[in-house]
Amino acid sequence: MPVYTRGVDTSTIVILDFGSQYTQLIARRIREFNVFSVVLPCTVSLDEVRRLNPKGVILSGGPSSVYDATAPKADPAVLAMGLPLLGICYGLQFIVHHLGGKVEPAPAREYGHAPVEVVAESALFTGLPQTMNVWMSHGDEAKTLPEGFRLTARTANAVSGIADEQRRIWAVQFHPEVAHTPQGMELLKNFVVGICGAQPDWTPEHFIQTTVERIRQQVGTGHAICGLSGGVDSSVAAVLVARAIGDRLTCIFVNNGVLRKDEFLKVQTTMREQLGLNVVAVDASERFLAKLAGVTDPEKKRKAIGNEFIAVFDDEAKKIFEAEQSAGEEVAWLVQGTLYPDVIESSSVHGPSHTIKSHHNVGGLPENMKLKLIEPLRDLFKDEVRRIGRDLGMPAEVLERQPFPGPGLAVRILGEVTAERVAILQEADQIVVDEIKKAGLYRKVWQSFAVLLPVKSVGVMGDQRTYANTCAIRAVESEDGMTADWAPLPYDVLRTISSRIVSEVRGINRVVYDITSKPPGTIEWE
Ligand code: XMP
Repeated sequence: MPVYTRGVDTSTIVILDFGSQYTQLIARRIREFNVFSVVLPCTVSLDEVRRLNPKGVILSGGPSSVYDATAPKADPAVLAMGLPLLGICYGLQFIVHHLGGKVEPAPAREYGHAPVEVVAESALFTGLPQTMNVWMSHGDEAKTLPEGFRLTARTANAVSGIADEQRRIWAVQFHPEVAHTPQGMELLKNFVVGICGAQPDWTPEHFIQTTVERIRQQVGTGHAICGLSGGVDSSVAAVLVARAIGDRLTCIFVNNGVLRKDEFLKVQTTMREQLGLNVVAVDASERFLAKLAGVTDPEKKRKAIGNEFIAVFDDEAKKIFEAEQSAGEEVAWLVQGTLYPDVIESSSVHGPSHTIKSHHNVGGLPENMKLKLIEPLRDLFKDEVRRIGRDLGMPAEVLERQPFPGPGLAVRILGEVTAERVAILQEADQIVVDEIKKAGLYRKVWQSFAVLLPVKSVGVMGDQRTYANTCAIRAVESEDGMTADWAPLPYDVLRTISSRIVSEVRGINRVVYDITSKPPGTIEWE
């Protein structure tokens, strides 16, 4: 059972996950009301649910039919716990099926937008209009309601809202958690605040205070180490831990030779001077570039960088470890910036995710160091991490940084990675970032960057014929990096980027724009 950072009195909503792609969204929406929410696999024991002392329980949607042999199983006794309960989509069907109603395959699958009519008063619909546009995604429908239940809403085709106030159970067939249901937030608030009476006590100050306190107790007089990437997660994790144990945290920042231009120095300055962190900076570019020599396969590049990172990190950690030991101290802790989506994924009803990338984890530390993990962000979603960072007084420049892959520019240099090609891409990349920032687009797009292609073409500059590299510009809009649309950057921004790159970067004479979405493309080119 995970240990949450909430205090014992914090209002909590438990979400039982039946495998919907939207389950995490329910949790995020509830946290937007400053109410703590946790996602547990639907198979969890009710004792574990009770231990969290929740104000209410939500049964999520899911891809199965209640009749599927492989349908995820929750203990039906959850329906008799006496806690306010909200069923969403599959959650509604689970309730109907287990309380004696009837669920059947719908004659017409409802998918997408649908108008729903509220047909009876319900605490869930307080303040909502009588007709709402909602997002549907279901193949089965409730045909007969269990005893005690009333119909509260319907579409032209199917039951879309039911309630049994006596048993304190409400359910909707549609998805209030998605943006396509404009009144969804109000509906969720009616449940969480109105029906469950949850208090908005999950605030950044509360989180910082309880987390710092807990780390202080855990670590005692021990020492901790933390790998910094310059990105949001590891920086916020480090600042939180430093709040708790000060200089007894040592951060390790490695130059892997494929960082952005001047990043190695800039990150050090920010981390030391603005964030007051104790940073050991290791320039291992040559080691990394030596491992990358002759490698063109994307996965082999990732492996080479991942393995070398572990080797460099281990060397540095060992030095710190030995120095502390000879001073009679002990480094016992390793800080990691794991976020809540990774925690949910690894305990989901689908089993551990294959999407967690191996090089995100610092593995391979020597056994005899026996480091214990501190993961101060494991209860948080990415947007919450940024809020915490803001409350910790961290600069926007760190918190609003676009995601940057662990293998860095290596996966944006197609073909072999050499020092010369890294230098060319660093220059082009900096122009892209500069111009996107100048146009006020840096925070509007998810990522914007340059890719160096192994393609040469002919050009003319002044009176000279050129024969040089091609660079692709990639800019995408996305919520979470899982899916993405190519961004329609204004032509004048593209024009400036292109002409600056061709005139300022030696080695590039042609610029193209990538107009592929994900899927079927990926964000990175490798
Ligand atoms: P893709 O290219 O898979 O990228 O559409 C999705 C998001 O993940 C980032 N990315 C990585 N991050 N190590 C990382 O730390 C990697 O190997 C890696 N590959 C992709 C990518 O930048 C985007 O935000």
